[in-house]
Amino acid sequence: MNKKTEEIEIRTLLKTLTTKEKIGQLMQLAPFFFIHDLEVEVAGPLRELNLDADKIYLSGSILGVGSPEEMIRVQKKYLERSRHKIPLLFMADVIHGYKTIFPVPIALGATFHPELAELTARISAREASTSGIHVTFSPMADLARDPRWGRVVEGFGEDPYLTGTMAASMVKGYQKGGINQDDALASCIKHFAGYGASEAGRDYNTVDLSRIALFSDYLEPYKRALDAGARLVMTSFNTLDRIPATINPFLLRTVLREKWNSGAVTISDYDSLGQVKAHGVAHDDREIAKKGLTAGLDIEMASSSYINHLEELIQTNEVDESLLDEAVLRVLQLKKDIGLFENPYKGANPNKHQSIVLSKEHLDLSYRVAKESAVLLENDGILPLSNDVSIALVGPYANNKSVIGPWSWHGKRDLHNSLYDVLKDRVSFTHTSADIEDYSKEDKAKLQTASIVVLALGEPDYFSGEAHSRSDISLPDHQDDFFQAIRSINPNTVVILFNGRPLLLNQVKESRALLECFFLGSMSSEVIKDILYGIVNPSGKLPISFPRAVGQIPLYYNHLNTGRPYHVENKSNEYVSKYMDVVNTPLYPFGYGLSYTQFFYDNLTISNEILCPDETLHVSVNLTNIGQVKGQEVVQLYLRDHVARVSRPIQELKRFQKIELQSNETKMIHFYLTISDLQYSMEDGEMVYDQGLFTVMVGSSSTDYLETTFTLKESHK
Ligand code: BGC
Repeated sequence: MNKKTEEIEIRTLLKTLTTKEKIGQLMQLAPFFFIHDLEVEVAGPLRELNLDADKIYLSGSILGVGSPEEMIRVQKKYLERSRHKIPLLFMADVIHGYKTIFPVPIALGATFHPELAELTARISAREASTSGIHVTFSPMADLARDPRWGRVVEGFGEDPYLTGTMAASMVKGYQKGGINQDDALASCIKHFAGYGASEAGRDYNTVDLSRIALFSDYLEPYKRALDAGARLVMTSFNTLDRIPATINPFLLRTVLREKWNSGAVTISDYDSLGQVKAHGVAHDDREIAKKGLTAGLDIEMASSSYINHLEELIQTNEVDESLLDEAVLRVLQLKKDIGLFENPYKGANPNKHQSIVLSKEHLDLSYRVAKESAVLLENDGILPLSNDVSIALVGPYANNKSVIGPWSWHGKRDLHNSLYDVLKDRVSFTHTSADIEDYSKEDKAKLQTASIVVLALGEPDYFSGEAHSRSDISLPDHQDDFFQAIRSINPNTVVILFNGRPLLLNQVKESRALLECFFLGSMSSEVIKDILYGIVNPSGKLPISFPRAVGQIPLYYNHLNTGRPYHVENKSNEYVSKYMDVVNTPLYPFGYGLSYTQFFYDNLTISNEILCPDETLHVSVNLTNIGQVKGQEVVQLYLRDHVARVSRPIQELKRFQKIELQSNETKMIHFYLTISDLQYSMEDGEMVYDQGLFTVMVGSSSTDYLETTFTLKESHK
């Protein structure tokens, strides 16, 4: 059937609906509204939303169904009662796995391995779709430069290119083969837009971004996810230009529809349309409904202004019915593309669910991704451990299963092993307290005689995620003091860290080895064990800078130069952009991470010293593994545009490749850049370039690289 015929059918269907039924298609509620017997009592949340059973049964979609049985029950009950029989669409948050849990997104970002991101999304879709879920609210493409913000854990860090690459890969993975496939999910990119720039890192807080920062940094990842085919866009809780994103016509019409020409279905975040009142931008739900639809918001999640007010607004000609029709057509088209009209129970399959969730293949993938997600921050050679050393395993995460990370609502903590479970054969002493006072004299003696102390520290998984911002990002519960106490008993201390955000690691940096794990998912403990013993060689790189002090935040590698940049080598640095009490640099920079082997870079070569806009710049570098063991390196290419019509960042990641080399092996690595890599965005979103000097940096992190220069010129004359 060609596209045209499809559209006509959807339009015909639309004509059969009453205005109220059309509005219903834009309402999204949680499944419990349908499971409870509505006829008995209209109470609680129903009353708050001013909904009755008739309105509920007009809903177009459902948020957060829990199992195939539940989906089938809800859909059946709905279709029996519905006049038009248009099936419900089921959406849910499948963020880093469904039952098989993968590393949290920030850890996935640390892999710098887009193919793995695609595979995790693929497997997440395979598992979640058996529950009858059709849409996932993932990936989150919000750029995050403030580690106080709890939702740092849900994104891929501070860089637009890395975030965009990973987000686009996840979209491809979820939607592989087409969203009508039984084992695919449609992807909803979120939170549009600028949510990661919440002031002071406090969740839901005001965002005040210049248009140029918005276009050049924040919008790129959403755009790349949409270019990869994401079918939905969720708005964010924040304001932008003092207008809530959920009713922001600049975002929803000018950028999304006009500039990007996107037909994606837009959906509010949880009650974010209702919250427009709290933002002080509407008097009541009626005005909210008008502003929402007019701005271009299609589906309203978990609030009820559309269903309660749009019909009247249309009758009084305050809202044009064509706006409603456009929005409903997008929703119906999505339902059709998913295949709901052929099979309202699409995907839901209790038997398949039982047989594939947590299968060996899925857990193996979780292991593979976790292997590449952990970042080795320090190692003086103590790691890897030899098999015969005696280890003392201590600290709050020594025997803790709650380390699969936030947003793993179907992940069962008890199914997975703790560190102690996997290490017990090698552990001579264990204790889970983080207070040295709880350790007896005998305990301390055991700590002292152990060859190595493995100290499992971190913040609980509920310390990060939505509404979980922190003003103090040091290790909680005096764990720094605990670390120092342990270290004074036994200096051979290796620290394993669990956390959802960059923490202040100035103290634990002094350990003999420091392994940043974030939250690694179902196979976390197995992977950590294999890293400790050298079966796995760590290859993760930081997708976000780790500051030295909260006062440095926001701190990110791709900043502008300022008029008075600080130069480390310049002693008379008084009137420069700096702090009096801390250096400008992060403790650990973007792109940084160690390996059990060493990589050597040489022979950085570029094809053109003078480059014209229609030419391709070929960059090559030799990479050699000069260590004793096989390893993977993330070769990173950064650019600096020295003079432009606006001030440009001191470096920007433009390409990366993850390369595996045997000991003593050398490979020439090639990159190709074109004019689109040299362009940048102006405040209206227009992409421009300027002639002049560029520096190319290629290396193992944002601070460790070889460099060379070329000049961009209109012609060779
Ligand atoms: C979160 C979204 C999520 C939605 C639906 C909201 O509170 O901000 O990220 O997708 O709930 O669960």
